[in-house]
Amino acid sequence: MKVLNFGSLNLDYVYPVDHIILPGETEPAGGVTLHCGGKGLNQSIALAKAGVPVYHAGLVGEEGQVLIETCLKNGVKTDYIKTISGRSGHTIIQVDRHGQNSILLFGGANRRITEEFIEEVLKDFEKGDILVLQNEINLLDRIIDRAYEKGMRIVLNPSPFDEALKKCDLKKVSLFLLNEIEAEQMTGEKEAERALDRMRELYPEAGIVLTLGALGSVWQGKEGRIRQGIYQVKAVDTTAAGDTFTGYFISSMIGGLPAGEGLSLAAKASAIAVTRHGAADSIPLKEEVLKTELKQKE
Ligand code: RIB
Repeated sequence: MKVLNFGSLNLDYVYPVDHIILPGETEPAGGVTLHCGGKGLNQSIALAKAGVPVYHAGLVGEEGQVLIETCLKNGVKTDYIKTISGRSGHTIIQVDRHGQNSILLFGGANRRITEEFIEEVLKDFEKGDILVLQNEINLLDRIIDRAYEKGMRIVLNPSPFDEALKKCDLKKVSLFLLNEIEAEQMTGEKEAERALDRMRELYPEAGIVLTLGALGSVWQGKEGRIRQGIYQVKAVDTTAAGDTFTGYFISSMIGGLPAGEGLSLAAKASAIAVTRHGAADSIPLKEEVLKTELKQKE
């Protein structure tokens, strides 16, 4: 069984600010740093750091060599990352004094996936292999259809949620990992429990992990719901916390851990990630996650 993550790779320009800029406001930034990120890249690195051999597929632009090197350095297989002309995906991320962020995303090379490239990648994968997806690349509907035809198991983090996702046949997804905003966008339900009920009605065959920020996370499977609180830490930067959670939870499922243990492992890994700056750089190794003692918030 092989694991493929078909997803974005971004150069993240991170600016510390006092507060997230309001419309019409000008505010000086406390500095600027460049980090490797993208929900796809972050989740591949989280999977690799959690001990899962993972192939990443995606496109970078002319300045994107550093993204490939970062994947390689962190143990992600880069056979299916191609460099094309033009610019890589990039973001402008404001991080406020509480560690909260806001992200402006320029898709760049991530939005130039072609049907030929999808075939070139998927030809090497087969029934039973796992495909991990987020929503920062184009042609997601096509990737889902082709992977499903091959019998791959599809894991989707529908983030960021947009119109393109409405074109996808999400009944083909085996596992969803989403936050409360995405859950509301997908179901129209604001309240978390109702959103989960609706997700269950819409996708009765899929497992669902809903993350609720400070309120922790919930697993919804055929057997019912399991809840997990967050671990207490001082957050400096929440970028990639969700990606860390996603990568670690998927790794726990692949490793055959019960869902409750998977939630706990993922919650701990993402708690460690928010104590550090940056996206991919902030993701801890499994060894560290296992040996770090953290208190769960009541
Ligand atoms: O989830 C965090 C990621 O979202 C950042 O690394 C940024 O690139 C955006 O895609």
